[in-house]
Amino acid sequence: MASSGIPETPDMMVRFMRSGEIFTPSAPIDNQALFAGRVNQLNRIIGAVTQRGQHAILFGERGVGKTSLANVLLKILRGSQEKLKSVIVNCDSEDRFDLLWCKIFLELENTQTLDFEPHQVNPEFIRLRLQRQITGSAIIIVDEMDRLNRDSYFTASMADTIKTLSDHSTNITLILVGIANAVEELIAQHLSIERALIQIQMPRMSHEELAEILRKGLSNLSMTMDQEVIDFIVFLSQGLPNYVHLLALHASQSAIRENQSNINVNHLNKAIRQACENAQHSIMTAYSTSISSSRQETIYPKVLLACALAPKDETGCFRAVDVREPLSRILGKEYTTTSAFNRHLNQFCEESRGKVLEKKGIERHYRFRFINAMMPPYIIMEGLRKGMINLEQFKL
Ligand SMILES: Nc1ncnc2c1ncn2[C@@H]1O[C@H](COP(=O)(O)OP(=O)(O)O)[C@@H](O)[C@H]1O
Ligand SMILES: [Mg+2]
Repeated sequence: MASSGIPETPDMMVRFMRSGEIFTPSAPIDNQALFAGRVNQLNRIIGAVTQRGQHAILFGERGVGKTSLANVLLKILRGSQEKLKSVIVNCDSEDRFDLLWCKIFLELENTQTLDFEPHQVNPEFIRLRLQRQITGSAIIIVDEMDRLNRDSYFTASMADTIKTLSDHSTNITLILVGIANAVEELIAQHLSIERALIQIQMPRMSHEELAEILRKGLSNLSMTMDQEVIDFIVFLSQGLPNYVHLLALHASQSAIRENQSNINVNHLNKAIRQACENAQHSIMTAYSTSISSSRQETIYPKVLLACALAPKDETGCFRAVDVREPLSRILGKEYTTTSAFNRHLNQFCEESRGKVLEKKGIERHYRFRFINAMMPPYIIMEGLRKGMINLEQFKL
């Protein structure tokens, strides 16, 4: 029985490849059958599309599933409206307002060359051209708004475009997608467009939604998973769907290599090892800088693990007292105050310790937050791999 490497038989190889198509930690979903949850967000965005003069903005942390939602939305709408024109364009740091719209027109008009110059592009030009080119209705999705250089000219022009499309009650819907601050800038400076824009926040996924990702993927693969493995993956992911995909991918492939159709804790342990070994370089570096010490015995790794395990509010913040319980569990001794680890928490906010945390608020009411939301699940996986904590300790 092979525990690593490629599967032994052609049939196993087929299933192995299939699991890589279903669990895609680094690519957005575009298959409706694998898309989990997000009913409320989908309904609201479809509401915007069906109302003339309404546009939408979809915002949330990186990795919560914005692009996947946009993909699936287009699938649903294309299925129901034959004459619908739709495009998704990705912004990049080089894009200016005019170049972005050139990109959109190239896609919409399905052509290689445009019969106008970028300098001609302005909000009125855009509206007139869209109205001329589009006979039915159209949806234009601008993804990764946060990646482009949004100077005040850009936000003002985008706001004016929304306003003119809305004032003329066109059947063209603009959907802007990005992380939160890109959206705040747009709205804060141009309150006049607030009425025309439905703002849809993408929160982290609920436990039910995360479990649904597993259920849909596994049923597609004709595989099953022990309940404790499901519970653990859902707990570890902290609302971030890419971790569900990552662990489900490695765990299912590990089971397939052994020609098994049920995924158990052993497969999960192997998946955790693989996920740690292949983690993003920046995450690994930040982790090792934050816990490094010249002394043999140090509690930095354990305090950081306790921070990763600490219960957090909806913005990902926790207090020093929230670290007490998980740290007591890890070290096997009761902490009644925070004095033993306050110093460590503060140091995690400094450059010399990788600046993994940030501190907000005022003295006695400090709140801490991991700067990179992808970090806590990785820290928990490292904690398990290094034996600082074991799976049994997660059982509720
Ligand atoms: N509703 C969903 N159902 C299943 N998987 C999802 C869902 N939303 C996101 N994912 C998965 O989560 C990861 C991040 O999704 P993505 O859409 O790229 O997020 P964002 O655009 O917000 O950064 C991808 O691996 C994607 O496949
Ligand atoms: Mg995206």
